[in-house]
Order: sequence, then structure tokens, then C-alpha cells
Amino acid sequence: MQTAILVALSVVVLYVLQKYLEFRRAVNSIRDHPGFRTVFTMANPLLMWRIPGIAPGNFSPWTYKHQDFVDKGWDVISQVHAWPRTTVTYLLADAGAIRDVANARARFPKPVEQYKILSFYGSNIVITEGDEWKRQRRIAAPAFSERNNKLVWDETINVMLDLFDNVWGDKQQIEVDHIVDLTVPIALYIIGIAGFGRRMSWSDEEALSSGHKLKFKDALHTVSTDLFLKVVCPGWLLRLGPTERIRHFRLAYDDLELYMHEMVRARKQSEKKEERYDLMSSLLDANEDESDGKTRLSDEELVGNIFIFLIAGHETTAHTLAYTFIMLALYPEEQKKLFNHIKSVIGDGRIPAYEDMNALTYSLAVFNETLRMFPPVNGIPKYSAEDTTIVTSNAAGEKCTVVVPQGARFLIHTPGLHYNPRYWEDPYEFKPARFLGDWPRDAFCPFSAGPRACLGRRFSETEGVAILSLLVSRYRIEVREEPQFVAETFDERKARLLSSAQSITLHPVRAPLVFKRR
Ligand code: HEM
Ligand SMILES: *[C@@H]1O[C@H](CO)[C@@H](O)[C@H](O)[C@H]1NC(C)=O
Repeated sequence: MQTAILVALSVVVLYVLQKYLEFRRAVNSIRDHPGFRTVFTMANPLLMWRIPGIAPGNFSPWTYKHQDFVDKGWDVISQVHAWPRTTVTYLLADAGAIRDVANARARFPKPVEQYKILSFYGSNIVITEGDEWKRQRRIAAPAFSERNNKLVWDETINVMLDLFDNVWGDKQQIEVDHIVDLTVPIALYIIGIAGFGRRMSWSDEEALSSGHKLKFKDALHTVSTDLFLKVVCPGWLLRLGPTERIRHFRLAYDDLELYMHEMVRARKQSEKKEERYDLMSSLLDANEDESDGKTRLSDEELVGNIFIFLIAGHETTAHTLAYTFIMLALYPEEQKKLFNHIKSVIGDGRIPAYEDMNALTYSLAVFNETLRMFPPVNGIPKYSAEDTTIVTSNAAGEKCTVVVPQGARFLIHTPGLHYNPRYWEDPYEFKPARFLGDWPRDAFCPFSAGPRACLGRRFSETEGVAILSLLVSRYRIEVREEPQFVAETFDERKARLLSSAQSITLHPVRAPLVFKRR
């Protein structure tokens, strides 16, 4: 008995010693560059709190913004953690270092194993690397054309007019319990029609089509909010469905797959092949093109990419718009400036056209400023394929060469960059006008940068400018007054409305607003 305990104890001691030595070696390999030294890693949902030596608690990089870089002294800081595997990660808030890492795609590739959550319906452009990615990017990129942008604009206007005419009607005042409940359907209807030619409407009371258990929009919404269940639950547990939430997720997951296959079938069988400019057209062309004897995009990749466009194409924009409305409600003087600008472009009260977009600079500046302060994608991971170095500096402008061993990870720390006072004056202030003059382009990275930057940037800018311009021209946005909050100060109110959580993307938790007819 005693020997058994002794053996067990020695095994534990040896394991801890080995881990400790690995950890020391990792720290030496980066010459002890300042940063966090912990047992566990960040992004660990079980350890969301910051416990020195144990966990960095940096579950969402937005929580601490640029503060960690101030505390540790440099705009590139390290994070070494020991368990389950010793790993070195550099957090990047330095514009030059970020530009270099994002541009050198082959030297600093994407750690594709971290993207499992986006892989379930099939391989796709977001989760691949190397030649696989190149092939898919060549197929997907032409879809985001000027003609598609115009389609996005026109359909965005249709969705908004449908909302005003058929839902809001002649009400003088519309109360929204949580702004995300308004912006998510808007963005969903737009990606539906401008992405896939699938029209959904606000007054959609249609019966469920045969074979379906949920409406398309409900299936997609459930899958995008609960997709993590597919990562944390083994297949048998999902099939068993021990809780209502898991059962509902499984239903939605299967139903969405059915919808995507139906969308493909309907398009393939449609008799007249009209010219279409939605995103799906390019994917379908590549799927049907068998000129080299084999298809350029397999059926599985077709569905994988449809799913990615659906997810990437609505949550990010919806959450950005939600923050935009909150900020405009909190800062009425900024809203007034925006309104005056819109009026100066479409003064006669006409509906803004795609041709007006370039003149609506203030609308885009408001959208950009929101993306700076609330980047929906908080961190972009990369790793180093080689032993190398990167250069950074500190608040005093001193340079430092950071040693990067092969296999080290990077996290482009978007909030760290966007709140870095070296690039942005008063980074915590909402000042859309900063985007009108000269602004530091390399210090603005909501869509990533380099060859793997977001394909949908123009898509979402077009959508955002159209929504903001039309809505603000007709409605004033205010915070909804609630009896339990009458005594709060401005700062408390701001903190309450901006309280945020992170699912696939960053989003406000509960923000009730009112829209008042002008
Ligand atoms: C405010 C809105 C948006 C933001 C902030 C955003 C952000 C990003 C970011 C940060 C990446 C890089 C991800 C990574 O490296 O892991 C990315 C990639 C991508 N985004 Fe977006 N996105 C937005 C809207 C959209 C829209 C509307 C679409 C499509 C309709 C879209 C399609 C894509 C695609 C296809 C990629 C992958 C590009 C590649 O790997 O080559 N995005 N986006
Ligand atoms: C907004 O940001 C984009 C980059 O994401 C830039 O190309 C554009 O010029 C900016 N425009 C304004 C008005 O802020």
C-alpha cells in the first residue's frame, strides 16, 4: 500500500518537474520577454478570472483593451502557459508588427486547428491554409464585386423600407427591448437576399415548408449562437439530447443543413439561368464547372462556404450596428452631426441611392469608429513557421527586438491596437470625425489585414452606410428610460448599455433603445 502511494507520488513529482523544465525552456527561448506566466491559457471558459500565476483570465481581449500592454511596458507582450502543453503566445498591439505578420502569409500562417467550430458543414475558405485556401479564395473573391455591392445597397434599402412600412407603420415611437433583436434580423435578411437570393420578410408568417421543423432564420440563429455545443459535446451526447437546449440545437443544426442543400438544389434546377450577382452565383459556377474533368469546388465545399458566408455575413455586421445605435443614443450631439451630414447629401428627403454612398462619408466614419471601439472579431490568431524576430517599441519610443521561436503563436490583439494611445488620441472617446482627416491606417484592423483580410468588408460597409443613413434620416435614437435606472449617472448608464459578452463575436448583453420619428 505504502509503495503504491510512493510510486504515485513520484510520478506526479516527475510530471510536475518535467512540465516546469519545459516551461523554463520556453521562457528562455523568448529571452523572458515581458508578459504573462501562467499554468493555464487564456480563452479558457472555466477560468475567466485573472489569477496571477494561474490564469490570465483574458477570455475576451476586449476586457482589458490596451491596459496589459501599458502594465508590461511593450506593445508586443508574451504569454507562456504550461498546461496542457507549454505554449508561447505573443499578443500584438503594435501596428508595424501586425502589418508584418498579417502580410507574410507563408511565414505566419493561420493555426487552422483553432477553427474547428467553423468546420462542421464542410471545408471552407476561413478554415483552410496553403494551396487549399488559395484555390477557395480564387473562387470566392470574384463574388464580392461592384455589382454585388450595388445589390447589397438596393436590398438593404428594401429591407429597411419593409420594416418602416409594414412593421413600424405610423407609430411615433418604437421601443426595442434589446437592440441586437433588431439588428440581427436586418443583417440576416440582407445576407439572405444579397448572398443567396433568399428573400425573408418582417411580416413573414408563412407556414413551414415541408420537411422543416424550424423557420430558416430561427434555424440559423440557433446554430450561430449555440455552435460551441458541437465542439464541447461528443456526438453521442448530442444524439442523446439530455437538455432542451441541446435538443433544440440538434434540431436546428440538421434543419439548417437541409435548408442549405435545398438552396443549392433550387438554384441548380432553376430553368432560366439569369444573370445574378449574389455571392452564391460564383460558388455555384465553380461547383458546376467540370472543364478540367473534375469540379473546382466540391459539393461539400459548396455547403461549407455557404455556411461561412451566412455566419460571417450577418453576426459581425449585426453586432457592429447594435453598438453604433447604442453610441448614437448615448451621444446625441454626435447623432445630430450625422443627421445634418445625411441631410446635406439627401436633403430633399429622397431615399439614398448607391451612387450617394461615396458622399455619405460621415456615416462610414461612424461605422468605422464603432468598429474601432467594438471590433466584433477580437483576436486573430497566427503562428510562426520559422525562427525569426519582430520589432516593437514602448510608450517612450524605444525599440525592442522580440525573439520568435518556430511554432510560437501570435494573437493580433485588435482592442489592444485600437485603444493604443500611440496611434489614437483619446482612444476611449467616441469621435467619428477622427476618420475624416488623416488617420493611422495600419492601426485599424477590424477586418484583419494582408492577403487573408476579410472578403466581406465592402459588403458590410455598404450595408452599414445604407442602414445608418436611411434610419437616422427618419428616426431619432434614444436610450429607453426605465424606472429602475432613473438615478444612474451618465457613466453608469454607458457601462450598463455597453456591457458585453463574447460568443463567436463581441456583442452587447442588453441594450433597450427607442426610435422616435423625426
Ligand atoms: C463588420 C463586419 C465584419 C467584420 C468585422 C469581419 C471581420 C473579419 C475578420 C477579422 C476576418 C479574418 C478572420 C481570420 O483571420 O480568422 C474575416 C474574414 C472573412 N470574412 Fe469577414 N468580417 C465582417 C463581415 C463579413 C461579411 C459581411 C462577409 C461575407 C458576406 C465576410 C466574409 C469573410 C470571409 C469569406 C473571410 C475569410 C477570408 C479568408 O480567409 O481568405 N465578412 N472577416
Ligand atoms: C473606413 O475604414 C476603411 C477601412 O476599413 C477605409 O477604407 C475607409 O476609408 C474608412 N472611411 C471612413 C470615412 O472612415
